[in-house]
Amino acid sequence: MKVEIVPSILSADVGRLTEQVKEAEAAGADRIQVDVMDGHFVPNLTFGPLVVQAVRKATSLPIEAHLMVLRPELFLEAFAKAGATLIEIQVEATSSLYRTVQTINELGAKAGVAINPATPVEDLREILPYIDLVNVMTVEPGFGGQKFIPHSPDKIRRLRAMSADIEIEVDGGIDARTAPLVVAAGASVLVAGNSVYGYKGGIAAGIRAIRDAVD
Ligand code: DX5
Repeated sequence: MKVEIVPSILSADVGRLTEQVKEAEAAGADRIQVDVMDGHFVPNLTFGPLVVQAVRKATSLPIEAHLMVLRPELFLEAFAKAGATLIEIQVEATSSLYRTVQTINELGAKAGVAINPATPVEDLREILPYIDLVNVMTVEPGFGGQKFIPHSPDKIRRLRAMSADIEIEVDGGIDARTAPLVVAAGASVLVAGNSVYGYKGGIAAGIRAIRDAVD
């Protein structure tokens, strides 16, 4: 199972975003994640479709738009048009998950569902056949640099037992220490913000530290 490293721009120097994205790509990042927050679903306000557009111009890597927003169905077309390869919505943020996933696919993007730490993986049973990826949040979403929630590997194992082929992503507190734990449990897509863009040795060293930890 190839492990993919996905720097999230939440911890990047947004004043030099193009440069920071290009640096991550040159250092071997597999995808880039844009952490979209609306100040309602999470107590933080971040990026919109314009930033996805800017990232799209900066890299040929797949871009994930992680919509930590209420009523994500209002924004799907804007993020798809901005160039998102995959759009992730929070299972807790919509009352029409099936229709929202169908709409993402109709817009030509891949569909992902993110679940918060207190949401059971079993809530995803019926939607699994229709999505490309599940993001198991390993922190309560809203901020970068938080502590990895220790029960996360058990949750990943339970999700892997529900589906042998769904792509399992993890997001929050992923670094050289926690990456082996989540990969051993069945995750293969590692979102990393602070451990890449906040790494003391720089972006390339941050990516390499995680890669070395899981290889
Ligand atoms: C939700 C954010 C973070 C970010 C990664 O809070 O979306 O999970 O992506 O954060 P860190 O800095 O923990 O890797």
